[in-house]
Amino acid sequence: MATTQRNEPIIIIGGGTFGVTTAYHLSKQGYTNVTVLDRFPVPSLEAAGNDINKVIRTEYPEPLYTKLASDARDLWRDVNGLFAGLYHPSGWIIGATDRSTPFVEASARSAKALGVEPPQLISTEEIHKKWPPMNGDFKGWKSYWSPNAAWVNAREGIVRMAREAQRGGVRYISGDAGHAKQLLYDENQVCIGVKSADGTTYYGGQIVLAAGAAAGSLLDLKGQIVAKGHTVGHIQLTPEEVEKYKDMPILDHLEGGILFPPQEDGIMKVGAIHFVTNFARSLNGKSLPRYRSDNPQDGIPDIIEARLRKWMETCVPEIAHREWVETRICWDGDMPDYHFLITPHPTHKNLKIAIGGSAHGFKFLPVLGKYIVQMMEGRLDPEVAEKWKWRPGTKLADYETNPHPETPEDLNDMPGWGTIKSTL
Ligand SMILES: Cc1cc2nc3c(=O)[nH]c(=O)nc-3n(C[C@H](O)[C@H](O)[C@H](O)COP(=O)(O)OP(=O)(O)OC[C@H]3O[C@@H](n4cnc5c(N)ncnc54)[C@H](O)[C@@H]3O)c2cc1C
Ligand SMILES: *[C@@H]1O[C@H](CO)[C@@H](O)[C@H](O)[C@H]1NC(C)=O
Repeated sequence: MATTQRNEPIIIIGGGTFGVTTAYHLSKQGYTNVTVLDRFPVPSLEAAGNDINKVIRTEYPEPLYTKLASDARDLWRDVNGLFAGLYHPSGWIIGATDRSTPFVEASARSAKALGVEPPQLISTEEIHKKWPPMNGDFKGWKSYWSPNAAWVNAREGIVRMAREAQRGGVRYISGDAGHAKQLLYDENQVCIGVKSADGTTYYGGQIVLAAGAAAGSLLDLKGQIVAKGHTVGHIQLTPEEVEKYKDMPILDHLEGGILFPPQEDGIMKVGAIHFVTNFARSLNGKSLPRYRSDNPQDGIPDIIEARLRKWMETCVPEIAHREWVETRICWDGDMPDYHFLITPHPTHKNLKIAIGGSAHGFKFLPVLGKYIVQMMEGRLDPEVAEKWKWRPGTKLADYETNPHPETPEDLNDMPGWGTIKSTL
């Protein structure tokens, strides 16, 4: 077991969800020389975690995540804690048509087994009665109601955690100086540091790769992680509509889309579940994120938008065709089995990896860093370490454990995208 010196220099690449929780927990545990490098200042423009809201749910088919999510939720909703005021217990309706039904049912079983109130089947009539503005025909919905789910102000969660880490002595570096371009190794292939876009080099006793969906641009991940883009749009409601929709639950159809209750300012977020990859425009057979920061002319794929609008008609027809006030493709790194990749690198000593949010990593923000620090110190519970280990060639999860089993389409195959000149 590695006994780590609390004053050893540690470099974290990426200050999104996994990076900031690592920095925070390192500082809480007395580490005194921690540096976070990110392309962008907090909250990073391109971080998956930088979002107006994210779902916090405790229903998972696997006890490991049910437990982690429950622990995280206790901190999210602690009115005296770091995240006070960010937690909104809206509940949610989770729907499926066919292929996603096993996931919902397995989650309900697991909740029951753990003594958590399981999601209950709910009819369209009951939905209409309970939430009159949700007056679509809910065609294709097998709907479950769960009062356990909530949404949080994700961006503010990251900002608060970063601020607290900085108070604890963590140094943040952004811009070209924080934009990692290359990992540095000694002659024995030990990872010793990072070189950034402006040529600055940073040396550390441990280097933590937490660059999310972009991690594959710095390290050969042996095909383990695929960057997937989630199409997101915001619409603006009037104050009268906010009043009307404010008590609605989150609506999540695993084959259709996800819709959040309005924020105070009337912004409503809608997300597609039809993800995209970016293989064709990346190098070496990888799918890497295509950030709008590098491609300011990028929009969202028309096909996906059309599907999303059609899906909204099934639940909230009145606002299904509102114009977007903002759109985005938000990138996350997906593992095929959707377990995280939180592990030492198998051959490069001192290189630690904390990625693979797999479209569900945000909710764990308050607690995940504790486990990442345990991994760094070589004392992660072996059962958990087994799930999060380096594992090229891992098979796709089955329908019971994967909420998003669909094969994503590549951006380059989307009409309108083939004509956009790649900057890569
Ligand atoms: C649209 C969308 C909705 C989601 N909804 C939910 C939800 O409701 N609930 C939930 O639990 N999870 C959700 N997720 C998943 C969750 O957001 C991610 O799993 C999680 O944020 C991943 O964290 P990360 O730290 O790996 O990546 P990120 O949060 O993306 O952070 C990566 C960071 O690395 C930085 N970076 C990248 N390249 C470099 C470089 N070369 N040098 C320096 N810095 C670099 C980036 O700027 C960024 O700050 C959602 C994801 C998306 C995309
Ligand atoms: C942190 O580590 C770096 C690299 O070894 C060193 O140059 C720096 O002085 C250290 N800073 C502190 C506060 O210990």
